[in-house]
Amino acid sequence: MSHSISDSPIRFALIGCGSIAKTQIKALLAIPSEVKLVCLCDTQEERAQALAEEFGLEVASFESICADSSIEAVTFCTPTGVHASLAIRALEAGKHVIVEKPMDVSLEACQRLMEAVDESGKLCSVISQHRFDPASGIVREALDAGKLGQLLYTEVRIPWYRTQEYYDSEDWRGTWAIDGGGALTNQGIHTVDLMLWFVGPVKRVYARMATVAHERIEVEDLITVQVEFESGAMGSLLASTAMYPGYPVSLGLYGSAGSALIEGDELKTLAIQGSDTVGGAGANAHALQVATGGTRSASAEADKPSDDKWQWGDAHREQFRDFVSCIRSGNAPVVTAQDGLSAVSFIKACYQSAQTDAWVSL
Ligand SMILES: NC(=O)c1ccc[n+]([C@@H]2O[C@H](COP(=O)([O-])OP(=O)(O)OC[C@H]3O[C@@H](n4cnc5c(N)ncnc54)[C@H](O)[C@@H]3O)[C@@H](O)[C@H]2O)c1
Repeated sequence: MSHSISDSPIRFALIGCGSIAKTQIKALLAIPSEVKLVCLCDTQEERAQALAEEFGLEVASFESICADSSIEAVTFCTPTGVHASLAIRALEAGKHVIVEKPMDVSLEACQRLMEAVDESGKLCSVISQHRFDPASGIVREALDAGKLGQLLYTEVRIPWYRTQEYYDSEDWRGTWAIDGGGALTNQGIHTVDLMLWFVGPVKRVYARMATVAHERIEVEDLITVQVEFESGAMGSLLASTAMYPGYPVSLGLYGSAGSALIEGDELKTLAIQGSDTVGGAGANAHALQVATGGTRSASAEADKPSDDKWQWGDAHREQFRDFVSCIRSGNAPVVTAQDGLSAVSFIKACYQSAQTDAWVSL
């Protein structure tokens, strides 16, 4: 799996030039010693052309990208329901692949992608950029050091708002076939992934869901879930796109020896028994990191901007950096293909529970 020419930038192509593409293009162009973004592709060629002109890049067809042996990695910003089928073709053509979240709309499609990854020996990752937020790193470190003790309870809230125009803006939005689900799948999966990363595997879920505030969508815009983790921890989750005007995501972790609260991408509180509680309204991750003696910013990440300036796109950039370093080293990325599958598995269990009005085991 490792890269043969150790120092040259990994040559990338980007497929799907809609709303998330610009974030990815900027993130890839921000790390020129690690990545060379070679070309863009979209079935609506004018979209690829517009971004290519803006960023001084080339446009190419998917077939020519697969046939071009100089392209080593492909990133997919296409609608969710075409992630696996396209990524499998790229893997078969010998490329490393990274797909936007969610991995795909069904467990079967995700499993097909996993099998293709195994057969190809290439690297696959799924975008879950909030793992790379400084706040997430500090919480992960606190958990690894056992500072919160035994996790007792986690509370995840995604009280977002999306207009009807958002769902009307592309044919695939709000459909089971291509979006794969609603508030939990499209918007909530980021925090689902963080929850699974922090708390661990889930034993069973009980969910209720409905479409309460939008028309012409098949999927839920409101879902609540009771969660039992394999560790014995309990949890609850709310995801919605119906909560005008929309509020920041929050993720609370409550352990026998302390608690952590992330709101948006900021660490609001880290309270550890026997230590001073740090944080509170307005605290940012950097201040907390200093206060808790965290090692993250003092390490090899010295070239990263401090999280005072942490902004949209930085986390994508850091995930690409991790992906490229794993292509070179053969190590597993921070977000593995299995992590992508696990998030989709959790969500599918929630939908099954809501549809059957029963607890569903994972
Ligand atoms: N990580 C994040 O924060 C984040 C944010 C937004 C979207 N996303 C994810 O990114 C993906 C795309 O979302 P979006 O909002 O940018 O969608 P979008 O509809 O705005 O853009 C998708 C683009 O893909 C193109 N496309 C479709 N099929 C194609 C194919 N076979 N080959 C080439 N191009 C094709 C479309 O023409 C369109 O331009 C989704 O999976 C979504 O969940 C992630």
